[in-house]
Amino acid sequence: MIQLENDIIPSTIKENRIILFANQKGGVGKTTLCGLFANYLSVNQHVPLLVIDADPQQTFYGRRKDDLRREQEVAYKVQSMTIKSPENTRVIMQNLRTLPGTTVIDTPGSLTQEGMLQLLINADYIICPYHYDLNTIDSTRAFILTVFRLRQAHPEIKAKFIFVCNKHDVRVGKGSELKAWKIVDEYFQKFGFLAPRIGNYADLERYNTIANSDKVEKLTNRSFDFIYKTIYNIEDKDDGNE
Ligand SMILES: Nc1ncnc2c1ncn2[C@@H]1O[C@H](COP(=O)(O)OP(=O)(O)O)[C@@H](O)[C@H]1O
Ligand SMILES: [Mg+2]
Repeated sequence: MIQLENDIIPSTIKENRIILFANQKGGVGKTTLCGLFANYLSVNQHVPLLVIDADPQQTFYGRRKDDLRREQEVAYKVQSMTIKSPENTRVIMQNLRTLPGTTVIDTPGSLTQEGMLQLLINADYIICPYHYDLNTIDSTRAFILTVFRLRQAHPEIKAKFIFVCNKHDVRVGKGSELKAWKIVDEYFQKFGFLAPRIGNYADLERYNTIANSDKVEKLTNRSFDFIYKTIYNIEDKDDGNE
């Protein structure tokens, strides 16, 4: 039985990983994707998981509190964290580094460089949602450049970007738009991995902190599988099929 489990569940999921959901642009879906992906990692992939809500608005932490009124069993813990003090944040991050398993951190849009620095120094991946409007693209680019500038001054920063276009409206897209989107994607790809897009669906708005519905799974699996495989170094066994 143990052997079977070992065959199916990759050992890399027990390794220490720190994942940030970050982009200085608000409203791109950091908190939503953080929740959906946390459910996916924990329930679907059996990754030992802790979620930290570092946004002062405490949206995710609040939602977990609501969920706990209806659900007793949860697959992962959610904690809140204040990242105002760099020294505090540094100590917390160093502790998280010693945990077996993964920590996912939802970050606020308005991070100072100093606050960001402390999160980045111990992070492995930055999942950065965006969509195709000029404002968002500009902010996202500014955010990427901030991180790369910090990296020049602090070579210990190893965090890699995973970009994911979120709230994508599949119905729109004229020839000229498709071309523009491709240019944006190619630009972001210079700085990291590009995950499959996630569409704009009401089912994704109503996420919870317990588990994803079948519908949600259908709408997010392609993207989350890609991100999961990237983070835990899982090779595609069935490549060549597509
Ligand atoms: N894929 C999606 N489909 C539909 N609505 C979404 C999707 N992702 C996010 N939203 C909605 O967009 C708004 C902003 O999302 P949120 O996760 O709060 O962004 P952020 O944390 O980056 O500020 C919320 O109302 C959320 O419900
Ligand atoms: Mg948020």
